[in-house]
Amino acid sequence: MKPGVWGSTAVALLVANMAYAAEVAPNDVKVEDGTVAQSLTGNPGDPEMGAKALANRGLGNCLACHAVSALESEQFHGDVAPPLDGVADRWQPEQLRAIVVTAKKEFGPESVMPGFYSLEVGINVRKDLVGKPILTAQQVEDVVAYLSTLKEGD
Ligand code: HEC
Repeated sequence: MKPGVWGSTAVALLVANMAYAAEVAPNDVKVEDGTVAQSLTGNPGDPEMGAKALANRGLGNCLACHAVSALESEQFHGDVAPPLDGVADRWQPEQLRAIVVTAKKEFGPESVMPGFYSLEVGINVRKDLVGKPILTAQQVEDVVAYLSTLKEGD
C-alpha cells in the first residue's frame, strides 16, 4: 500500500475524533449572561433540518406552543407562547441557543418551555429518556440556524 493512503486514513480518523470531542455534553454547556457563545458541535447548523426538527412532534414540537408563519403548511400551531416570527430580530444566535438549550435559565423556573438540551427536565420523565436531552447537539444547532432566518425587519 502506498504511504499516501495510510496518511489520509489517519487524517480522516483524526477529523472524526475531533468532531466527536468538540460536541459539548448537556451538563457541560456554559450559559453566561443568557447566552451560549460556543456552538455545541463546532459544525454549522442546517436551517432546513432545523425547520423539520422544530415541526416534528417527536423532536422539538415547538409548534405545540408557538406559531411560525413561515411553516404555514404545518397543520397545528399553538398559541400559549409568542409567535416565533421575527425572533431573529429580537435575539442574537447565542441567545437563541441558550433559550433552546435551557429555557428555564433564560425565562425563569416557571416557564413551561422545556430545556431541549438539558438533563434538568423535572421528575416525571419516561425511564427510557432519563439522561438524554430531547434534541441532539446538532439538532439544537440546526434549530438555532433556522430561528436565525426568522427576520421581519429587513
Ligand atoms: C410547552 C410550550 C413550549 C414549547 C414546546 C416550546 N416553547 Fe418556546 N416558549 C414558550 C413560552 C411560554 C415562551 C415565552 C417565555 C416564557 O414565558 O417562558 C417561549 C419563548 C421562546 C422564545 C423567545 C420568543 C420571543 O419572541 O421572545 C424562543 C426563541 C422559543 N421559545 C423557541 C422555542 C423552540 C425553538 C422550541 C422547540 C425546540 C420551543 N420554543 C418550544 C413555550 C414553549
